[in-house]
Amino acid sequence: MKTIIEPFRIKTVEPIRMTTVEERRQLIREANYNLFTLHSNDVLIDLLTDSGTGAMSTNQWAALMKGDESYAGSPSYYRFEAAVKDLMPFKHVIPTHQGRAAEHILTSVVADGHGKGKIVPNNTHFDTTRANFEDAEIDARDLVIPEGLDTALEYPFKGNMDLDKLEELMAAEADNIPMVEITITNNAGGGQPVSMANICGTKAICEKYNKPLIIDGARFAENAYFIKHREPGYKHKSVKEIVREIFSHADGMTMSAKKDTFSNMGGWLALNNDDWAEKARTRLIMTEGFPTYGGLSGRDMECIATGLEEIVSEDYLQYRIRSIQYINERLDALGIPVMKPAGGHAIFIDAKKMLPHIEPLHYPGQALAVALYIHGGIRTAEIGSFMFGRHPDGSEQPAQMELVRLAMPRRVYTQAQADYIIEVFEELRNNVSGIPGLEVTWEPASLRHFTARLRPLES
Ligand code: F0G
Repeated sequence: MKTIIEPFRIKTVEPIRMTTVEERRQLIREANYNLFTLHSNDVLIDLLTDSGTGAMSTNQWAALMKGDESYAGSPSYYRFEAAVKDLMPFKHVIPTHQGRAAEHILTSVVADGHGKGKIVPNNTHFDTTRANFEDAEIDARDLVIPEGLDTALEYPFKGNMDLDKLEELMAAEADNIPMVEITITNNAGGGQPVSMANICGTKAICEKYNKPLIIDGARFAENAYFIKHREPGYKHKSVKEIVREIFSHADGMTMSAKKDTFSNMGGWLALNNDDWAEKARTRLIMTEGFPTYGGLSGRDMECIATGLEEIVSEDYLQYRIRSIQYINERLDALGIPVMKPAGGHAIFIDAKKMLPHIEPLHYPGQALAVALYIHGGIRTAEIGSFMFGRHPDGSEQPAQMELVRLAMPRRVYTQAQADYIIEVFEELRNNVSGIPGLEVTWEPASLRHFTARLRPLES
């Protein structure tokens, strides 16, 4: 059978409120052309993020009832800890309310009161990871391979770390590098996977210079599925075995449980180093909660534990990766400049290519995202100069890429909804020259893309 079907059926539904182009034109104006400012019930298909937006299973809903809300020593914590260790055998598992809380705590341990002058390399830092390091005055360096920056190039592991550049940086700056990080999959670089060979190569460099390797594992199962199907030697291993192998090369991880555990909230920091773990737990108690709940309810930890069992299902992962490839392939056939090959959680459009008439600092990605909302009620996210263009010194420079991300929530949208997305692009592609660039009229001191206000340029 060639058709890959959704390996679930729908038990509970949420109605979508239908809107018209005219209504949406007005709504986006009122939202100052920032899609984060929209009310979500004014959106038809919400592809803003795959974070916390997945559909839970019957087993997860049932697990919520088992949540034990004891302040200390809850059995829900021990179930959560065992489920994490089953896949990621780290010594210390520290629950946090979401991924960025784990990043914040890790940053405080790594900066140790003086971040200035320190450097943390990563294939590509996600925005909150970068913001946490930069807030502590740590230089967050992106060292993805050059293939990862060429959106049209077919390459199996475009998320890989550039090992030559890492070695060069280590040789010059080892004293200033407290840790090395790898993000799987590489979200800001297009949801592209990192190969096992590259993880091992990164680890070898870390060992040479005696530095810990930390994995940002938000989409670990999708990455493991790509390894299984693209990397020689992994075809006969289960995704679960591959996941264990990935994490056996690391000294710790940060996790957003809002992605690859099907949970609406949650995260953790896991570490092998006792000293770092002790410092992290002290900080955790100040900012999140007692170490057996961190920022979570007992029921959240139950839900994550069940989600961890479900996410390594190969039927699920096959459907997940295929449903994203399906949209990518059809957009590609329409001549839409998509990132190739398709990433694990999202379709990425190269807005620089699709809207060549808009200068990078007039935000072609944001302009396309606004057009997709007005035309089709689809909410997407810009990952380009609007998100990354403003630097800590106040200067503004174009980002490396101008992408629009269509992040697919897990187990949420159907095939007909996927076809609708494709149809919206089909109609839009004939009118791209009329899409105006944008300018910022107000922005906060950092992370501007969440709250900044914009307006279209006069044509
Ligand atoms: N790391 C990666 C790779 C992420 O994609 C995210 C979140 C985080 C860390 C932070 O985790 O949201 O639980 O605090 N990414 C979301 C997104 C927000 O839309 O890609 P969090």
